[in-house]
Amino acid sequence: MAIPQHTIDQILDRTDIVDLIGQRVKLKKSGRTYSGCCPFHQEKSPSFHVYADKQYYHCFGCQANGNAIRFLMDIDGRNFVEVMKDLSSQTGIDLPKDNQESKKILYKRETKKPTPLKPAEQQTASPVVENNTPVAFDPFEDFQAPSDPFAGFEQFQIEDEAPAQEGNLFDLLENIAQFYERQLPNSQSAQQYFKKRGLTEKTIQFWRLGYAPEDWQHLEKAFPQDIEGLKLLGLIRTSDSGRDFDLLRDRVIFPIRDTKGRVVGFGGRALNDEIKPKYINSPDSEVFHKNQLLYGLYEGRKEKAHDYLMVEGYMDVIALQQSGIHGAVATLGTASNTEHLNILFKQNNRITIAFDGDAAGQKAARRTLEIALPLLNDGRELKFFVLPNDHDPDSLIRREGVENFKRLLENAPLMSEFIFSHLSRNHNVTTPEGKSQVMAELKQLTELLPKFGSYRYLLQQYFREKLGFNRKWQPQVNNDAALSFSTKIDAEEYVAAILMNHPYLYIHFEPLRALIPQDQLLYKILNIFNIIFDELPDDAEHAKYYVLGACANHHFELQRILQQANVSDYTTSPEQADKLAADFSTKLQHQYLQQKIRSKKFTSIAEMKNLKHQIYMIDKKRSLTLIDE
Ligand code: UTP
Ligand code: MN
Repeated sequence: MAIPQHTIDQILDRTDIVDLIGQRVKLKKSGRTYSGCCPFHQEKSPSFHVYADKQYYHCFGCQANGNAIRFLMDIDGRNFVEVMKDLSSQTGIDLPKDNQESKKILYKRETKKPTPLKPAEQQTASPVVENNTPVAFDPFEDFQAPSDPFAGFEQFQIEDEAPAQEGNLFDLLENIAQFYERQLPNSQSAQQYFKKRGLTEKTIQFWRLGYAPEDWQHLEKAFPQDIEGLKLLGLIRTSDSGRDFDLLRDRVIFPIRDTKGRVVGFGGRALNDEIKPKYINSPDSEVFHKNQLLYGLYEGRKEKAHDYLMVEGYMDVIALQQSGIHGAVATLGTASNTEHLNILFKQNNRITIAFDGDAAGQKAARRTLEIALPLLNDGRELKFFVLPNDHDPDSLIRREGVENFKRLLENAPLMSEFIFSHLSRNHNVTTPEGKSQVMAELKQLTELLPKFGSYRYLLQQYFREKLGFNRKWQPQVNNDAALSFSTKIDAEEYVAAILMNHPYLYIHFEPLRALIPQDQLLYKILNIFNIIFDELPDDAEHAKYYVLGACANHHFELQRILQQANVSDYTTSPEQADKLAADFSTKLQHQYLQQKIRSKKFTSIAEMKNLKHQIYMIDKKRSLTLIDE
């Protein structure tokens, strides 16, 4: 049984790992985690930790780790599906039933022969056929069906045909896409339209663009066996008088593909701007879920896009791709939602969203910001590409050329800068009152950020600096510019300095605690953080003092380190600080894991495998961030 990722995620969301493991292992709360004796190896002192916020467990003794599913699989020796069935009944989230799922994409085929269409340009539109008409209106009032060369013939043929078979919606969609593609050469006006919009033959083929003829029943004629399927897809409608007609007529067609490249729906654009609506999309169906799809994602991945840019329209996606900017995607005529952003964040931790420069665009940007904030963890970065007035990416790249466009895109503000300009726009930030209003609004926004991330704190600190609040405590001493920090301190000491400056970045360094030798200063500092992290004050300055107090025993060593490391120079934006911490942490984790393997201090083959797997995961993550540079 294939269980879709969103079902797995839903089930995990509903499962409390502390509760679940607590039924098998005696757990005690210590700092931010729960600990107990590891059920996977023999031990007397507890080195098994459960992290409620990450819904994850880790044993520092035998390196066993994973989520709730892994735990149940390993502890009971059961397979994935067995465990999922169990969790499904516990959480009340149903698993897909194999048969039901596949039945949904099947429909009953009839036994009729297709009718050839007349060449597109010769088709005469009936008087009411001018627009794509809202469904309530009956287009067939005075509609004359075009004479059918096969009329009367069909009946006769049916007897010879095979009995009714089952059709598959995916196959039908593919056939329809090919049908629309084949219609394009027949229509001068459609070809003319694409030409006017600057699309090359190659681009038209790449996107499989097509044309839906004017004929009211072209799909019924081309696919007479598949009427039920066409209705399931919403591509034919039934008028009040009971006649079927096509949803998309006399429109250029944009087939929409899912991430596997299967055609799942269509967008159709009118050939001129007077016709309303300008775009008609096929409705949601068993195989077409607009909320979970992005136009251009399949194509972007095919072209190995690395940076993803969310734009508004199909034509923007296509124009950018034709200019060599891959990875532009668009929603399917709906506002972007959490699901869309999550899909993009799975492609790359850094994504950019394009907005119109006008008031509506600002409003949309604010809305997107509010959906995006809760998703911003683990070094994710969001940029806001604000377009000049009256331009969309399609028109802008035409005006500016590729190179200029790329430059504008690269210079798009980071989320922190965007929020700052967005909030400071409405207040006089030269007055204390204005400043405090900005800080209050910022607080509302940061409340939306993940609870255990570092952005909450970093943004607050960034705003304080931008608004010119006095900094009471300045750790910096020298002015080394390069990331090759002062040679007088080592990487571990530098991390200690980062932590003293930006306590909330501890989130990145927590995994190091399991790997670092216990005589290191950093080990001691990380242990202190583990205990105090839950109680850290929200306010940036207070948090720093709190940490300094908690680390008072190491005051002298820290003093020296802080004098030599100039952390704040490298962390001018929250995004930068976050990335710096993440990079340092992975670098050190990698180093310690390798040392551990070399020293042969592991206790079993399984442990060594686990160490290697951890290294592999880090390498994978790193290779991604390296391309990022
Ligand atoms: P826009 O109206 O902003 O136009 O629609 P556009 O993308 O610049 O279109 P062109 O360049 O004139 O061809 C943006 C997107 O909104 C959806 C479509 O997905 C479109 O790509 N839309 C727009 C609709 O679904 N229906 C409409 O009537 C208009
Ligand atoms: Mn446009």
